[in-house]
Amino acid sequence: MGIHSLLSLSVVLLSCVSPSETGPTPRVSFSLGSPGRLVTRFSSPDVSNTTTLLLSHDGDLLYVGARDAVLALDVSNEDAITLRSKLDWSPSEKDLEQCSMKGKKMSDCPNFIRVLQFLNSSHVYACGTFAFSPRCTYINSETLTMSLKPDEGRGRCPYDPYQRNTAIIVDGELYTGTVADYRGNRPVISRHLSEGRRVDLKLDDTLGWLEDPTFISSSFVPDEEKIYFFFSEVGREYDFIDKFIVSRVSQICMSDVGGQRTLQRRWTTFAKAQLLCQADNELPYNVIQDIDTLAPAEGAPADDTLFYGIFTSQWSVNSGRSAVCSFRLSDIKSVFSGNYKVLNRDTLQWSTRVQEKVANPGECGLHNASDNALRFVKENFLADDSVRPVGRTLTMVSAEHTYSHLSVQRVQAVNQRDYTVLFLLTESGYLHKAVLLQAGAHIVEEVQVFVQPQPVKSLKLSTAQGVIYVGTSEGVVRVPTANCSAYWTCPQCVLARDPFCGWDPNSRACVRVSNSKSSLVQDVDRGNVEEACSSVSLTHRARFSPNKLSAGELVSVSLNEVVRLQCPPSSRLSRQQWERPNSRLSSELYLHLEDGSLSFVATPTTLGHYLCLSTENGFQQTVAIYHVRQKSSNTAQSQPSSHPVTQAGARPGPRSKLSEGTSEESELGRTEPTQSSRDAQTPTPQQDRDPALWTQESGLRGTKLWEEGPLMSARGPSYLKELVVVSVLLLLCVSLLITVLLYTFRQRCRSRTAPQAGTPPRGRRTSMEQEALRGPCASKRNGKTPHSAQAGVLVSNGALTGSNGHLPNTPI
Ligand SMILES: *[C@@H]1O[C@H](CO)[C@@H](O)[C@H](O)[C@H]1NC(C)=O
Ligand SMILES: *[C@@H]1O[C@H](CO)[C@@H](O)[C@H](O)[C@H]1NC(C)=O
Ligand SMILES: *[C@@H]1O[C@H](CO)[C@@H](O)[C@H](O)[C@H]1NC(C)=O
Ligand SMILES: *[C@@H]1O[C@H](CO)[C@@H](O)[C@H](O)[C@H]1NC(C)=O
Repeated sequence: MGIHSLLSLSVVLLSCVSPSETGPTPRVSFSLGSPGRLVTRFSSPDVSNTTTLLLSHDGDLLYVGARDAVLALDVSNEDAITLRSKLDWSPSEKDLEQCSMKGKKMSDCPNFIRVLQFLNSSHVYACGTFAFSPRCTYINSETLTMSLKPDEGRGRCPYDPYQRNTAIIVDGELYTGTVADYRGNRPVISRHLSEGRRVDLKLDDTLGWLEDPTFISSSFVPDEEKIYFFFSEVGREYDFIDKFIVSRVSQICMSDVGGQRTLQRRWTTFAKAQLLCQADNELPYNVIQDIDTLAPAEGAPADDTLFYGIFTSQWSVNSGRSAVCSFRLSDIKSVFSGNYKVLNRDTLQWSTRVQEKVANPGECGLHNASDNALRFVKENFLADDSVRPVGRTLTMVSAEHTYSHLSVQRVQAVNQRDYTVLFLLTESGYLHKAVLLQAGAHIVEEVQVFVQPQPVKSLKLSTAQGVIYVGTSEGVVRVPTANCSAYWTCPQCVLARDPFCGWDPNSRACVRVSNSKSSLVQDVDRGNVEEACSSVSLTHRARFSPNKLSAGELVSVSLNEVVRLQCPPSSRLSRQQWERPNSRLSSELYLHLEDGSLSFVATPTTLGHYLCLSTENGFQQTVAIYHVRQKSSNTAQSQPSSHPVTQAGARPGPRSKLSEGTSEESELGRTEPTQSSRDAQTPTPQQDRDPALWTQESGLRGTKLWEEGPLMSARGPSYLKELVVVSVLLLLCVSLLITVLLYTFRQRCRSRTAPQAGTPPRGRRTSMEQEALRGPCASKRNGKTPHSAQAGVLVSNGALTGSNGHLPNTPI
């Protein structure tokens, strides 16, 4: 009785204490085709589903597994990706007929290439789904021609093009994780293309070594001579929760040739362990989505190899969230060399082994072992301990973005220190570049790479070329890992905290870091502009010096006209604030709009100069200067009367929402902008090239803005609101508790088969669960946002609403 309800109770309670932060916000955003982040695309009308990518060793050719074709793309040219050759490989009419007769959708019957690996220096090995009857073939990598007749692809490639699989060729042998039957319920990890005394091997399937897995990835670690497989599966050891998904790492030794009698032609070195991506007192992010290997730094031992993975949760309280965890090879190794669980055949319960240890499961070189020892390793394949993430914490959590794929790279910055950079692909089509810092992840930028959601996609990073490829159903997109010249000033370059970039004081440009240039400045860790840019001609000038005032943009208005001054945010992490020389902006007369612009009625007292200041990471700079002046009467006549509102600014109506900086704020600790930053800040055409401007134009579609409700726009402290929010939350949590308890009770009465707290990773949640569990947590996050400067810069999709409709004290 107890465990079930206890578990659901803890799910509810945890949901109420689940982290309220939304995770890091991308500092700037580039929509598809933005001039600051140009992407190169390859697409062709007769090519589709270009989702399996393989990069040649020199990085000049990209092999692509597509629908009914394998392509070789020439990627050596910076400006364009061109098709070098194409190999058509499609099922015959008869195959297609049979496929659709078996009840498959015609659109799923083509040959989707799912395995593409270098076999040797002259050949590529490819496998495709081939009308639900997988085939493999040898392709000459120079001529892109098939050299031998196709092999059977069973156990090497999935039947269903939507089923995930993994494959890797090491020393001419193919190691795969896939399902090996038409229905998709015989998963297998196997080795193919072995020759001589080495035989093809597969999993023994009598004891349930795998439980309905979804294969994610495989990685070869040369020093260990082992292949590691990553997948999620049903965690049978958690028998008190139905269908609890766990993420796993499993290993096999390359030297394995199977047993002599026991485990003949079966792995003798297979072992698996749970990968735990979980923070204290929180539900685990239990479903692995992708994982990438970060080889150790030069000179470091192989044990320091890290695996960075994206995890999501099967529980709806964490739906839409994703987490990144990293695991160290040494931790994986020590879990595999520890104790193992055993299955009690009578009760079907797993427990820690109590019997004597006859052999070491997972140990390489057991092919000569006794039958007794092999029987022992056959039964002991699930490690007792779980692999915990590095530092026992999550590397990064995002409440707003569901990440599906990642690539990881080590980058040496200007200070000669190594930084880990993650490229994370969101389901909504943005590529996030995150640098991992002591204080947490900082998302330098996001670049949109596709618009329509993509069911199958992949990511391939070329560190040598400094580009990343994204393969989707619509084509292949190439994005440089950085475009430093998108930052025009030293402060911009430093605030970006991009380890790929540094400011070159000589050429006065933000440039890519290379070994030859050592005079660059940058501060990835702190983004401290004052220090980093101090050597860079920092000229102090009085803010309201006469010559500066004349530099402001002239805004001519007639009296009693409503004036609106624009101030586009310089980044999503900046805060805007308006000022007038020698005067306060009282809330009686001035309205701070959500997009950062300032609105007021032109009267003799409101004429004059206005400054918009932007503060980011403690650095303040002037973003815009306006001089509001009364029109001379003759020009006023010619003004059409149907436009009573004067809008001023570089761009009309940016649709961003900013936390309002109150004009009464202290001026202490303010820094003067550098000369160079000023140059770019006067609203000239150059400002249109500021990355943050594209942020506004476009980048906002990906963010979920509905969460920031009207609470966001509340200015100043309003404890009444807080009280209401807390009360409502409390009420919600209490009613939720009751609901779930009732629900649990009902479920228990009904049957034990329905999943209690969970659903399979790709399964549908019941809407009730979703509603019940998501509600309070979303609103809790709302309640918090007004206090968080960072969340305050989140940008809104919505049009201006609420208080913006009318102006206070409008004399009309
Ligand atoms: C980099 O940014 C500069 C300045 O915005 C732009 O002109 C250039 O096209 C960009 N290059 C790429 C490859 O995105
Ligand atoms: C690569 O493998 C293919 C297929 O087994 C074989 O025909 C070819 O000769 C091999 N090439 C080299 C360079 O070994
Ligand atoms: C172990 O295997 C090797 C071949 O791998 C064989 O030569 C040797 O005789 C075997 N040793 C025993 C004790 O069976
Ligand atoms: C192939 O691409 C089409 C769109 O071009 C998409 O609808 C379909 O889901 C894709 N199929 C697979 C298996 O990727």
